[in-house]
Amino acid sequence: MQTTFDLFADTESEQPRRADQIGEQSWVLRGFALPQIDQLLPALESIIACAPLRHMMTPGGFSMSVATSSCGALGWITDRNGYRYSSEDPVSHQPWPAMPEVFRELAQAAAKRAGFADFVPDSCLINRYVPGAKMSLHQDKDENAYEAPIVSLSLGLPATFLFGGFARGDRSQKISLLHGDMVIWGGVDRLRYHGILPIKPGRHPRLGEQRFNLTFRTAG
Ligand code: SIN
Ligand code: FE2
Repeated sequence: MQTTFDLFADTESEQPRRADQIGEQSWVLRGFALPQIDQLLPALESIIACAPLRHMMTPGGFSMSVATSSCGALGWITDRNGYRYSSEDPVSHQPWPAMPEVFRELAQAAAKRAGFADFVPDSCLINRYVPGAKMSLHQDKDENAYEAPIVSLSLGLPATFLFGGFARGDRSQKISLLHGDMVIWGGVDRLRYHGILPIKPGRHPRLGEQRFNLTFRTAG
């Protein structure tokens, strides 16, 4: 697995910045994170050096296809006992690494741009997808309250994001997400179903054969 990122591959400079509204209170901010990429990638590397990515087990006994870690006060975990947040890494029994300032500021700026001015994330879930890995349709509902939006950052290989309705069977929009794109959904859209189609084989110039998704939430 590649854990050192090529700081010098530069292909993202020309991606157009744009805000696409995908729901009443949901936005895709294209290329929003690109100006911070040189600070974000080393911070991500340090976190996964302290709290290595691992394939967690669902309550039903399946190993997730994404490999996961966290930073911030709370980290989302799953095992045979269910989905929940924990203040410690269940592998090391240490607190999760602190959320880097550059992560928090980016998440807050993106939330603000999408109309959520006082977002204070206490959790950042890190998901690593290799080609073939996916995330089935689900709602984010393990948080204590739903007032805060979900703020997500895509890095590396492209993905197709499914953005659905309030029932699993509702029709989903298919949204292509590239390196540096951010998605924010909250308010009336907070409990929409969403997921990721299997990642297609490929090589990102900076991150190689992988995609990272960082999901910022107010969990506690
Ligand atoms: C998730 O909803 O947990 C992940 C979404 C993504 O990978 O973009
Ligand atoms: Fe989610």
